[in-house]
This record gives sequence, structure tokens and C-alpha cells, in this order.
Amino acid sequence: MGKYIIAFRLFVIFGVASSTLFITSCNIKGFFTKQGDDPVWVDPNAKSSKGPDVGVPGQALFSKNCAACHGGAGKGLPGAIPPLAGSAMANDADATKPIRIVLHGFKGEIERNGQKINGVMAAWKSNFDDQQIAEILSYVRTSWGNTGGAITADQVKDVREKTKSRNGAMTEPELQQPL
Ligand code: HEC
Repeated sequence: MGKYIIAFRLFVIFGVASSTLFITSCNIKGFFTKQGDDPVWVDPNAKSSKGPDVGVPGQALFSKNCAACHGGAGKGLPGAIPPLAGSAMANDADATKPIRIVLHGFKGEIERNGQKINGVMAAWKSNFDDQQIAEILSYVRTSWGNTGGAITADQVKDVREKTKSRNGAMTEPELQQPL
């Protein structure tokens, strides 16, 4: 009789241990098959999530790629980097102007808020597709009091095609010419 009791106890102990292992491995491998399933994981490239810095499409890309120079609130740096908040160029009704700037870069002397700036901004045409540029510029044109309005991927595509032989940064006099 005694050995049956021992066998039964072993059976119970192994049973509990193996089901604990089973459930644990389910949690790791079964339920959270993708990082996105993990309730505490935050996608740093999310187009829109509830995180403090990635609320609107374009905002995450802006924070990552443009904010280092132009500032998270688009204020720029007096005498060195033009502000995007209140920028006539960024908000221009001719949306091809800011699109041309982001695709090809921008250089040469400009004057913003009474300050001369003679800097160089690099081209982004190889970094972003049309949709990403549209989202970044839409974010710029609808944030910090800006009223330029959204830009579509088709508008970016059109400008990209029309300027595809372009090499080098745009200058202000060139941008004043309609595309
Ligand atoms: C390395 C710094 C730097 C980064 C990064 C940068 N810019 Fe610029 N940006 C500049 C400078 C400098 C100018 C002005 C160039 C000149 O002096 O002619 C400028 C000008 C502009 C202008 C024109 C503003 C005006 O009022 O004339 C726009 C629009 C703009 N940038 C958008 C962007 C966007 C969108 C991004 C991100 C994709 C970006 N920039 C990233 C430095 C930068």
C-alpha cells in the first residue's frame, strides 16, 4: 500500500511542476508571440499611439529626424536654424515649397524674424517615402499654431517626379519660382 501512496505523491508533485512549467512557457512563447502583444511594450516607430511623443501621424518621425535642429516645438535656433512654428515657408499655400525643401534640402542666406541665417539642411528624399514626408509635413503644418494644412502622399509624389533630376539643396530664390 505504502508504495502506491509514494507513487501517487510523486505523480501529484510532478503534475504540479510540469503544469507550472507549461503555463509559464505558454505565457512567454504562446501568448506574446509578437512584441506588440506585450502590454508594456511601446513601438518606438508607431505612427499613432498613446505615448506622449507619438500621438499624431508624422510626430514620431519629426521628433526623431527634425527636432534635433528645429526643436520639438518647432522654435528653431535664432541665427542658425529657422523656426517652423509660424514659418511662412513651411505654411505656404504652395505646398510644393516645403515639399521641395524636405526632398532636396535647403541652403543659402535667408532672413527669419529679423535674423539672418545662412545654413544648410540636407536632403531627405532617400530617407523617406512619399507617405512619410506627407505625414511629417502635415504634422508641421498643423502644429504649434500653424495653419498650412495637411499634405497628401500624392502631392509629394508629384513634386518628387517633377524634380527627380534635381541634385543639391534648394535656395530661396528658386523656391519662389512656381514648380
Ligand atoms: C541638421 C539640422 C536640420 C535638420 C535635421 C532639419 N533641418 Fe530643416 N532646416 C535646417 C536649416 C539650417 C534650414 C535653413 C537653411 C538655410 O539657411 O537656407 C532649414 C530649413 C527648413 C525649412 C524652411 C523653413 C523656413 O522658414 O524657411 C523647413 C520647412 C524645414 N527645414 C523642415 C525640416 C523638416 C521637416 C525636417 C525633418 C525631416 C528638417 N527640416 C530637418 C536645418 C535642419
